[in-house]
Amino acid sequence: METLNDIAALDRFRPRAGEIVLIPTMGALHAGHASLIQHGAKLAEARGGSCVVWIFVNPTQFNDPADYARYPKTLDADLAICKSSGARGVFVPSKDEIYPPGRTVRVPELPRVATQPGLEDARRPGHFAGVCQVVLRFFEIVKPKVAVFGEKDWQQLQVVRAMTRREMPGVEIAPMPTVREPDGLAMSSRNRFLTAEDRVKALAISKALRVAGGEASPKRAEAVMGDVLNEAGISPEYAVVRDAETLEERETESQRALIAAKVGNVRLIDNVAWPVRG
Ligand code: PAF
Repeated sequence: METLNDIAALDRFRPRAGEIVLIPTMGALHAGHASLIQHGAKLAEARGGSCVVWIFVNPTQFNDPADYARYPKTLDADLAICKSSGARGVFVPSKDEIYPPGRTVRVPELPRVATQPGLEDARRPGHFAGVCQVVLRFFEIVKPKVAVFGEKDWQQLQVVRAMTRREMPGVEIAPMPTVREPDGLAMSSRNRFLTAEDRVKALAISKALRVAGGEASPKRAEAVMGDVLNEAGISPEYAVVRDAETLEERETESQRALIAAKVGNVRLIDNVAWPVRG
């Protein structure tokens, strides 16, 4: 595995790489990322290409500078996970390479799914503009054939899909299911900030999604999610059922239940397909 610290190193690697399957990350990797990399490595192998992980904590998608400053940085452990999961390259550029001083890096037009009322944009205005900006910038630099995104950030997955369809239709977006701890908590780089007490409390999020799956209507499911969370002492930012692709508030063939909530001072998100059939 090669660590590529700048665009020049990536360009030297490219002729040996074949088609690139890209795994976008901000580092602080865990078993959820490992599953993305393993999947990417398989896709790359089938194409005779290479799986490349990008590690870059993107400042433009944080609306809270304190959140950006405290984002965990664990590069040595990250490189070990990349290697054992089958990555051939890890691209770790500096901030100045991605956002060259004095140069404006284009923010693509935001797809409608980014600003659906009551979801991420209501709580983190500007977040998806930063995500789209950095994803497009990396796609332009790395020129992947496929990019693998986790389903845990469901709205991000839909935003990136819609943005990529318009801006770089040659890049395929491959989704991967959320990886959970044995007790149901969705894996996240932020889980390490939970106190022992809040770690137990956070289980109410996956429980609420599970219980809501058996309800007969979106309104009932939303009420039940609210009840389970409130009982655990969690006041959700949202706990809703939406169309899975557009995230519009209407009943459709394919729907998703989504929750965002602060547990202590840690913001967690999770989602599942709704309803749970069978
Ligand atoms: O999901 C993430 O880790 C980030 O939002 C991403 C896609 C790597 C962009 O910085």
